[in-house]
Amino acid sequence: PRRVVIDTDPGLDDAVAILFALASSRFDIRGVTTVAGNIGLATTTRNAGRLLALLDREAIPVVSGAASPLARRGIDEVRIHGDDGLGGVDLPEPRVPALAGAADWLAGQLTAAPAGSIDVLALGPLTNIALLLRTHPDAARRIGRLVVMGGAVNEKGNVGARSEFNFASDPEALDIVLRAGLALTIIPLDVTRRVRATPDYVAALRQGGTASRAAADLVAAYFLGGRESRPLHDPCVMLYAVAPELFGVDRMAVSVDLTTDPGALLVDGPMAVPVDIAMRVDPDAALQLLRAGLA
Ligand code: BDR
Ligand code: CA
Repeated sequence: PRRVVIDTDPGLDDAVAILFALASSRFDIRGVTTVAGNIGLATTTRNAGRLLALLDREAIPVVSGAASPLARRGIDEVRIHGDDGLGGVDLPEPRVPALAGAADWLAGQLTAAPAGSIDVLALGPLTNIALLLRTHPDAARRIGRLVVMGGAVNEKGNVGARSEFNFASDPEALDIVLRAGLALTIIPLDVTRRVRATPDYVAALRQGGTASRAAADLVAAYFLGGRESRPLHDPCVMLYAVAPELFGVDRMAVSVDLTTDPGALLVDGPMAVPVDIAMRVDPDAALQLLRAGLA
């Protein structure tokens, strides 16, 4: 199994992604660091703990991080993820208190492990990773690969015309991450909007075990206003980590818009740096792998 830290703001689709990682034998999860994003930090931290409690995995530490973006006010998503961030789905309370100080904790983990042996899977705004880069740059360079859900390349945005929620929430953090030259793979809306759950898919998830049934409840809570299907954004990061062959990745030079449509990716702009961006996905294979892993 691959050693990973999950940095997250659960959040319904974050929760499905975390359940998949917990259920799969392909991940050695060293910890879950939390960030404010879909909802405030206390709630995202509680939610991470509730998911670990559900699957009896509270030996995995939860470490809270940034309570707000580096330079802006957060964007509230209660409308989508509910007052509790998880759509009111019934989950146990954490029995183990969370630690605090995600950036310092991450630095400690990265320094203690062989360089390149820990990947970071980032499902929320990049504030914690930017703080790690600012305060412990040498430790940060020991990350094997940073896989990030965020951005839109040819797709329209879901916050601004071209900006996606995670990147729009903390564009300055993304700027710091881009400039750091880490091995970075971005999973943008261009692929996550192709990997969609339908009511039939939810019904199939209900046939599985504890993780799968909880995922069914979480995805069902994500079906706002009777839509036909919903994108599974954050699970795509986990799917990429275990099955990169399901994705088509292009090397592109990008920078981030900090002024006009904050968080929008600018391809080939003046300050652009080369990164890997997933632009294609096999949606059926991705959905099947997600369901099998959760089952
Ligand atoms: C991203 O924003 C959040 O609402 C989701 O959890 C996902 O990480 C999609 O734009
Ligand atoms: Ca998220």
